[in-house]
Amino acid sequence: MAAIHRLPELLINQIAAGEVVERPASVLKEVLENALDAGACAIDVQLEEGGVRRIRIADDGRGIPHDELALALERHATSKIASLDDLERVGTMGFRGEALAAIAAVARITLSSRAEGGAHAWRIDGINREPAPAALNRGTVVDVADLYYNTPARRKFLKREATEYAHCDEAFRRIALARPDVGMQLSHNGRVIHRLPAGEARARIAALMGDDFLAQGREIRAEGALCLTGFVSLPACARNRRDAQYFFVNGRHVRDRLLSHAVAQAYADILHGSRFPAYALFLEIDPAGVDVNVHPAKTEVRFRDAHAVHQFVFHALNRALSESTARQATDSPVASALVAAHANAGAEAATNRYPLPTHHAATAPGRVVMDSASQAYFDFASRARPQAATASNGVAAGAEKAHFPAETGAPLGYALGQLHGIYILAQNAQGLVLVDMHAAHERILYEKLKIVFDGTPAVQRLLIPAVFSASPVEMATAESCAEVLLRMGFEVSAAGPRELAVRGVPALLANAAVADMLHELLEDLREYPVSEVTTLRRNKLLATMACHGAVRAHRQLTVPEMNALLRDMEATERADQCNHGRPTWTQFGLDELDRFFLRGQ
Ligand SMILES: Nc1ncnc2c1ncn2[C@@H]1O[C@H](COP(=O)(O)OP(=O)(O)OP(=O)(O)O)[C@@H](O)[C@H]1O
Ligand SMILES: [Mg+2]
Repeated sequence: MAAIHRLPELLINQIAAGEVVERPASVLKEVLENALDAGACAIDVQLEEGGVRRIRIADDGRGIPHDELALALERHATSKIASLDDLERVGTMGFRGEALAAIAAVARITLSSRAEGGAHAWRIDGINREPAPAALNRGTVVDVADLYYNTPARRKFLKREATEYAHCDEAFRRIALARPDVGMQLSHNGRVIHRLPAGEARARIAALMGDDFLAQGREIRAEGALCLTGFVSLPACARNRRDAQYFFVNGRHVRDRLLSHAVAQAYADILHGSRFPAYALFLEIDPAGVDVNVHPAKTEVRFRDAHAVHQFVFHALNRALSESTARQATDSPVASALVAAHANAGAEAATNRYPLPTHHAATAPGRVVMDSASQAYFDFASRARPQAATASNGVAAGAEKAHFPAETGAPLGYALGQLHGIYILAQNAQGLVLVDMHAAHERILYEKLKIVFDGTPAVQRLLIPAVFSASPVEMATAESCAEVLLRMGFEVSAAGPRELAVRGVPALLANAAVADMLHELLEDLREYPVSEVTTLRRNKLLATMACHGAVRAHRQLTVPEMNALLRDMEATERADQCNHGRPTWTQFGLDELDRFFLRGQ
């Protein structure tokens, strides 16, 4: 082994470059960030051969003065911070003073720049590093050619042109999404790929993620100590791949486990396991509350108060996603005016979250007679919502109004009938509504059980205990989990060596087949030992209960029962999906039907 000696400067830089410049896309990211830090309003990117052959980026920012040009290419030279204090509250994308030095160590770089107020531009290249006069109106042009020309081992790791280009495209998108106020253009091999004028966030998101995403997504706007804005896809428009997921913290794209977890948790209850949401989310936080200096490529961050950030993001998304589309429709000005009028009319309505039945049953077409008996479509509705039952008492609807009032306030409309004992057909202002009866009822029960579980569950004592045979494992589980079962509303005890007796069940599930439900619950409980009931565990148990309690297919429902189900869906959070993330209803617009039948063509 040789004696210890200092490494040459170039080799030091080449080693360091390994962390910063992984592939052409990393060069693009660094140089774009420099342009943004320089206050550019317009940025033009030209790539050749996936960025391996050449990356040229022109900006109209404030430029680099003549006597700082050589320094810009040196390691640990930056204009962005001067002290540890600055670092701890850094607001610029760059701060290390490493990027250009790293690029200069592994590619042929030329920097042309005209500083604000400069008589003309200057140019410098990475080899001889002497500024020479150049022609440029304003801003900076960074030209990076032949990536890894002097480090053949690294060059071998580059992928095909198409792959490297795809990475560049993604790097460009991330920055373009974060900065809609900056006009940006990208060309590859002379062909313009993206032409993005400066403008509103919506237009930028639509251009990069598609009009559909924007049209079918839900807008997020949550302000407090932090600020979260952006768009997320509804479960119905989720994707098969994780590809359209963008999270930005103070304008910086990050891949952060904490944030991904908060998003995943907000979707946990409504998204099918094999589907992924699309989102573009922007979190604004005091720079002092987040450390960006934790990853060589600055793609990870660390939050000072991680728990608070997680909760903020989770709740903002959860709130927005819980609103069912049906309920959002009632937020229309007309519907809100009706709600307000109704609330003034009677104090009882003010306590009802969905105080519309009286008013609207009267204008609804068809035979809609809602009395407390028919409200009790699956026994639980009348118990769970006494106000609704009284409010609609004795209201008989007239079939006299043939044409459907647009402002009915019943977004899911009124039932027409049942299809094969599985689907409910209903008519609303837009056209035909199709509801999967079991899936919808399952969600309603599930959400009600969640509410009940958080308080003291109402227990329905059984006149005659339900006794059924149980395996030794079930006997043991029932004994060790007696307390959890009781918390959920089940009074279970041994009735013999191999028999369990149920003396009480949750009032919401009075009609379910008790034995089947308990067999499955005990199975759930056995799988996870009981020490504490976490939210996730609790939800799993409640989902099992909801599934058993929900109305089975092929059960005949009357029209009033069906209408009561529709009203309950409108009043239930997350009612657009069943507990497994499958849709519960869909809409066929009249125009859609007209098109199908070629009407008016
Ligand atoms: N497009 C540009 N316009 C104006 N100044 C620039 C531009 N690009 C680089 N500079 C100047 O060159 C300096 C060095 O840039 P470099 O990217 O190497 O480091 P940095 O941005 O300060 O930190 P980081 O390594 O984290 O990116 C910057 O601090 C900035 O002053
Ligand atoms: Mg930089």
